[in-house]
Amino acid sequence: MALIGVFDSGVGGLSILDEALRQLPEHDYIYLADSLNAPYGEKSSEWIASRSMELCQYLAAQGCDAIVVACNTATAQAIEHIRIELQNIPIVGVEPGIKPAAMQSINGVVGVLATEATLKSDKFNALLATLPSDCRFIKQAGPGLVSLIEAGRANDEETLELLAQHLEPIQDAGADTIVLGCTHYPFLRKAIRKLLGDSINLIDTGDAVVRQLKRKLEAQGKNLDSDNHGCIQFISSKDADNLYQMAQELMQSDLSAHHIESRLVNAFG
Ligand code: DGL
Repeated sequence: MALIGVFDSGVGGLSILDEALRQLPEHDYIYLADSLNAPYGEKSSEWIASRSMELCQYLAAQGCDAIVVACNTATAQAIEHIRIELQNIPIVGVEPGIKPAAMQSINGVVGVLATEATLKSDKFNALLATLPSDCRFIKQAGPGLVSLIEAGRANDEETLELLAQHLEPIQDAGADTIVLGCTHYPFLRKAIRKLLGDSINLIDTGDAVVRQLKRKLEAQGKNLDSDNHGCIQFISSKDADNLYQMAQELMQSDLSAHHIESRLVNAFG
């Protein structure tokens, strides 16, 4: 059995934890939300890189066997440095699913909804440059959305209005596929479908990320494939009880099947 650390700027990485609990329920998890500092997507590259490193060092010090950087923004700005610093721990990142989107799009027009920091990062633009030029990507940042999701307002009228504004260029371009390039955005699926209907293809990479995690654990001989349910610690830089409450609201997994602990940590590292 392994202890797996999962971190995000806030509740977004719960979309990845949900998938991890579905595929790998037997392991123990620490979910670390830096909600005090969310959103990351509008902060400087230097700040994101140094804070992400600090949080991963904290997870490593807790004894994690693997760490999932469950944040596209932190992956784009920091994962290379984290891998160098924590050489002995597998570090799995999250990137916008533009490759599967290009393969699945029928009309070759794909919207990419992600944070400003992800869209302008070298890592994302290098990935984009590897894709065939016959697919057109409409890159759109979603300022304001993460804060609304953090406040538990993913389906509020205000969120729908803001989302409609952000989706307009994607809709105008006639995209048939949208990449949810921020781990908070899978929690907007319902709102997006309300605005754009059921035929739009929505892509997130939670499943692929967890399959990658599973391969890394297998390589370490730490995957059990058992139906037991491990323990989950919810740690927040802001409000751990609120984090656990939001996890219960946002996630599909039956958290009562796991032993749960929640704690507030004011300083990491
Ligand atoms: N959930 C994160 C991501 O995947 C970060 C969002 C934010 O804090 O701006 O990009």
